[in-house]
Amino acid sequence: MKIKLTLAAVAAAFAVSTASAEDVDFEKQILPILKDNCFKCHEKEHEDNGRVKKPKGGLALDSAAAIMKGGKEYPDANVVAGKPDESWLLKTMALPESDEYAMPPEGKGDRVSAENQALIKKWIESGASFGAWKGAE
Ligand code: HEC
Repeated sequence: MKIKLTLAAVAAAFAVSTASAEDVDFEKQILPILKDNCFKCHEKEHEDNGRVKKPKGGLALDSAAAIMKGGKEYPDANVVAGKPDESWLLKTMALPESDEYAMPPEGKGDRVSAENQALIKKWIESGASFGAWKGAE
């Protein structure tokens, strides 16, 4: 009887740990999406072939601090933790490609798939944690 109880306790603890493992991992799941679809225009100021490249719209997406800081038009509203509907990072990629605010701009890069948008939504809803990731200094 005692052994059975212990096993049940272990099973319960395991269930709890798998539930939290379902949280979105920024570095593993979200960063690759931003790299593929957004970094071309939204990396911090750097040199490319001897030319200075500035982040478009003043928005860099290659560090946690810059993602939270946002760009020129929507400072502090690029990612609003818990509020995907107020987060321009997600709102711009969800717009139809022909919209003037759509990201990436029309014809200028691959759209973010519905599946990946759902993942970003989930990440914002669950608190937009970056874990240990800080990104570019
Ligand atoms: C080909 C270049 C390009 C790519 C790729 C691109 N953007 Fe942009 N982005 C821009 C430009 C240019 C602006 C400035 C506003 C404008 O002129 O439309 C901008 C502005 C923004 C803004 C508004 C920032 C502010 O506060 O003013 C957000 C949010 C944004 N982009 C998100 C994204 C996301 C998310 C991706 C990837 C899914 C992405 N962009 C990919 C060019 C790009």
